[in-house]
Amino acid sequence: MAAVIETRDLTKHYGETVAVNNVSLEVPAGALYGLLGPNGSGKSTTIRMLSGQTRPTAGTASVLGIDVATDPVGVRRRIGIIPEQETPPSFLTAAEYLRFVGSVRALEGTDEAADWWFEFLDFGDKRDVLCKDLSRGTRQKLMFAQAFLHRPELALIDEPLVNFDPIVQHQVKEFLVDYVRQGNTIFLSTHILEVAEEICTGYAILHRGRLLHTGTPDELRETGRHLPEVFLALVGRDPAHA
Ligand SMILES: Nc1ncnc2c1ncn2[C@@H]1O[C@H](COP(=O)(O)OP(=O)(O)OP(=O)(O)O)[C@@H](O)[C@H]1O
Ligand SMILES: [Mg+2]
Repeated sequence: MAAVIETRDLTKHYGETVAVNNVSLEVPAGALYGLLGPNGSGKSTTIRMLSGQTRPTAGTASVLGIDVATDPVGVRRRIGIIPEQETPPSFLTAAEYLRFVGSVRALEGTDEAADWWFEFLDFGDKRDVLCKDLSRGTRQKLMFAQAFLHRPELALIDEPLVNFDPIVQHQVKEFLVDYVRQGNTIFLSTHILEVAEEICTGYAILHRGRLLHTGTPDELRETGRHLPEVFLALVGRDPAHA
């Protein structure tokens, strides 16, 4: 299958800090791919480079066949993004925000798509509430809706589940699994290793910016080990990883 994301020696320096160090990764079409790693290991930086939000210091990244360094706008037009800890603008209501995103993306049928999300994640009663007055989880629901409003063939999501209650986590997991079944691709970062093991079709573990390990659930099953065990064995005994 063709690679939807392909990086070669992708590297990002922030001054003396090497946030991402020579990462070469391929994510096939139709994958639900999990990027794992301790705090500060380079997950968000990788996602920011893939979405054209920050330029690589060295190496290359191709997303949907587009070089992100030469055409970041072209990449962002095609993908859905939920950046780390991003929240919707405080001065718009939930419905206004989705209408705004729909108009920026020149979508038809934004209101119908928005209605679907209000219904699916059960927050239609908040549609006319200013985003600043929404709970954290509800703002994250809205971030989900904006990322998938245009049904992108690839979505990059930095920590999808962390603010959600168990019911919403379950719904969102089912949504993600179903979304890739329809032929789309999801690339997400997460600290919830049990979720990664449950839903991901492939995963990569970063440590101090380096790619330590890649695998699939089938490979895990063959070893008889679970992902938290593999993760801790690889990075758990190193206290200086932040
Ligand atoms: N804008 C920035 N300026 C300077 N250093 C940065 C910047 N963004 C990230 N870093 C550094 O790069 C390294 C990787 O950070 P990154 O946010 O990618 O980690 P992460 O794996 O997403 O961590 P977490 O699990 O805590 O979200 C860290 O050492 C961090 O301090
Ligand atoms: Mg992060």
